[in-house]
Amino acid sequence: MRKKIVAGNWKMNTSCPEGVELAKAVVAKSTEVPANVGLIIAPPFTHLCCVSEITEGSKVELSAQNCADHTSGAFTGEVAAPMLTSVGCQWTILGHSERRQYYGETDEKLVVKTKLALEAGLGVILCVGENLDEREAGKHFEVCENQIKNVLYNFTAEDMKKIVVAYEPVWAIGTGKTATAEQAEEIHAHIRKVLADKFGAQVADDTTILYGGSCKPSNAKELFAQPDIDGGLIGGAALKADDFIQIALSF
Ligand code: PGA
Repeated sequence: MRKKIVAGNWKMNTSCPEGVELAKAVVAKSTEVPANVGLIIAPPFTHLCCVSEITEGSKVELSAQNCADHTSGAFTGEVAAPMLTSVGCQWTILGHSERRQYYGETDEKLVVKTKLALEAGLGVILCVGENLDEREAGKHFEVCENQIKNVLYNFTAEDMKKIVVAYEPVWAIGTGKTATAEQAEEIHAHIRKVLADKFGAQVADDTTILYGGSCKPSNAKELFAQPDIDGGLIGGAALKADDFIQIALSF
């Protein structure tokens, strides 16, 4: 049985003290969330060390929002996967559309980053998704399929146990425009089929596929009711502990 997960991507928000308060509130409310729903929070790099002291021993797991494509050395400004595990991080998000769009993250780079993250012992939340032009041109299935193939087809069925996919249509991120449950479900089902083609039905069936893009308490229930939607990657609504937990209670 694949795991249900609600993950909060804080992006470049909160000061460190604010992040600590938010993490404390999430941990305090996390006891309301059933055992079969995993909770992950992804604060900025600067907060990870402090926040890990708060999440430790709770059901809330800790994620970074990115990691470097090298393990150490002269790469000013970068943070390597082993550094993340050294502060208690269990996950990293990779390939978020904001990184693809603003920081030149390519599928080739994501293969390297995913490999290094897995080697360091991190789980990976790999983001895929089409932009508005691609959707309007009817290319959304193809775009997501290619992103999955370009990155994940370089890995093994064993690796897939540590990989979660997040489908995030770029036109729905931070815009208030959610994909309808049907629009999201058809892409999720397609992603699962693309995974099954390479890794077999069992691995595809066991892979958690999250939806992201203006997911909030008011629409989470309908999205999570879809057979191939296993939870959410939450941006804006993850900055309020009440909303974040409310979403995690929407299965
Ligand atoms: P949003 O962001 O929920 O604010 O749309 C989701 C994401 O980018 O992960």
